[in-house]
Amino acid sequence: MGTEESLTSAMENMSVSSEVAQAKYSRRVLIKSIIKRPDKGQGLFGQSVVVGGWVKTSRAHGGITFLEVNDGSCFDNLQVLVNGEVFSLAQLTPTGTCVMVEGELTQPPEGKEQKVELKLTKVLEVGTVDPRKYPIAKTYLPLEHLRSYVHLRARTNTISVVARIRNALAYATHTFFQNHGFNYIQTPIITTSDCEGAGEMFQVTTLFSEADKLARDLKESPPPTEADMEASKLLVKDKGQRVSDLKTNKADKASIGAAVSELQKAKDQLLKLEERFKLKPGLPEKDGKIDFSHDFFARQAFLTVSGQLQVETYACALSSVYTFGPTFRAENSHTSRHLAEFWMVEPEIAFADLEDDMNCAEDYVKFLCQWLLDNCLDDMKFIADKIDKTAIDRLQKIVSAPFARITYTEAVQRLEKVTDKKFDSKVEWGIDLASEHERYLTEVIYEKPVIVYNYPKMIKAFYMRLNEDNKTVAAMDVLVPKVGELIGGSQREERLEVIEKRIEDMGLPREPYEWYLDLRRFGTVKHCGFGLGFDRMVLFATGLENIRDAIPFPRYPGKADL
Ligand code: 4AD
Ligand code: MG
Repeated sequence: MGTEESLTSAMENMSVSSEVAQAKYSRRVLIKSIIKRPDKGQGLFGQSVVVGGWVKTSRAHGGITFLEVNDGSCFDNLQVLVNGEVFSLAQLTPTGTCVMVEGELTQPPEGKEQKVELKLTKVLEVGTVDPRKYPIAKTYLPLEHLRSYVHLRARTNTISVVARIRNALAYATHTFFQNHGFNYIQTPIITTSDCEGAGEMFQVTTLFSEADKLARDLKESPPPTEADMEASKLLVKDKGQRVSDLKTNKADKASIGAAVSELQKAKDQLLKLEERFKLKPGLPEKDGKIDFSHDFFARQAFLTVSGQLQVETYACALSSVYTFGPTFRAENSHTSRHLAEFWMVEPEIAFADLEDDMNCAEDYVKFLCQWLLDNCLDDMKFIADKIDKTAIDRLQKIVSAPFARITYTEAVQRLEKVTDKKFDSKVEWGIDLASEHERYLTEVIYEKPVIVYNYPKMIKAFYMRLNEDNKTVAAMDVLVPKVGELIGGSQREERLEVIEKRIEDMGLPREPYEWYLDLRRFGTVKHCGFGLGFDRMVLFATGLENIRDAIPFPRYPGKADL
């Protein structure tokens, strides 16, 4: 059997089938498909393979140079042995160098952790690095420092581990919802409705670039003056007079035709000048306000803060749906839990109430944790070793015990009794629980995830279903250790009169929500849903301190690199 065939059949025995496809579209084989085989690569001794990757470290010993090469397909590196005569070594050894090499898979000396190594026979390609200039050449750099190099930081252990865990969580998310019959719906990123009604939206507009273009244009070719306009009008008048004179004198057809065409030219010219004369630098205005009817969408538009309202339209037709995409919030938060651009998973279930919602949220979070334990153990071991000792235990604990479920009122009562900690903000019924309260509930009082439900209506969004007590809504938040709020959800208000009144009471404009009310006017249905902050889930799984390291390209006030 040839190398490719044997690798392929070996990979077929492995649990994640996408690896075969990845190896298929490149000349090299994935390092994972060599060292992560059930036999750790021992069945491949003597075979010649091509691998590609980046040099993590290198060392020389007894005339041989050892390169630790990583291609990101798994946490572990493949050790490549280079005999000095094969290639100019100085080019291969610096950290960060990219190599594509051919070699023979061989057995390392006894006692080594790795069961296979590659004896280099041919260097196919090299992407060199000048170690004096490479900004992440050092083996250990604080994550905060790495944020200045978002274009290179994926080469580090921590960020590549986080990337694979993030990928696994996305795969698990689709698997969970697809397994339960949910349809994946793509909701819009540009929207004209504010889901949370909190006014924290980024505006999407071309008015500024248009105004800028116009300003430059007017500078390059200034608009006509009053005198230019007068002259142009006079010309039209003259040309008109000339036509009527020719007609009065019964001139020949050709002369009249020529004069008419000149008149038309003068009129066209005047029209053009009039148009430019009207141009004013700056933003278009009407009644002292910016006139958005001149904007790209002929109205104000924003980046979405949540796909919920739109996905509800599909829940009210396809029953069980979910959306998974980027969401944007222009809140000026500098905390380690907030991003201006973050990803959210939002299922929406028809014919379901708050309890179904909580059950779904709990099952989904447990499924994600179990998935990481089943599929990402190497990466999780690195996390436990280098970032957070309790990371694996935490996942196991989540999977093995039911979440606590308490009402908001109970939560407040428990927090009011706390004596061993002084909270920055006072706890009393009606407050929006702060992160310190949420974390105390989940980390100290319950020591596990807590679902808090039935919140005061004053602090929650208009779409949440009003409870019988007329004071609380059927909302629920899932709080987890290390992070605090991971999920926010609710049963939706399906009664037209009730939701109309909520919109009015909250002082929200009615017009943007008319389509949303139609869902209650026509074939209304009891339904519920929630939003899981995907980056917070990564934060929770990895135990990282800052959400800015849980997303490849973090956006927060003052920062939007690349
Ligand atoms: O609680 P939120 O605001 O709920 C909604 O947006 C609902 N429309 C969801 C729904 O019912 N379909 O946000 C949901 C979750 C939060 O629990 C939190 O985990 C995360 O989104 N989140 C953020 N994550 C990072 N940065 C931010 N600025 C976040 N704001 C919310
Ligand atoms: Mg919330």
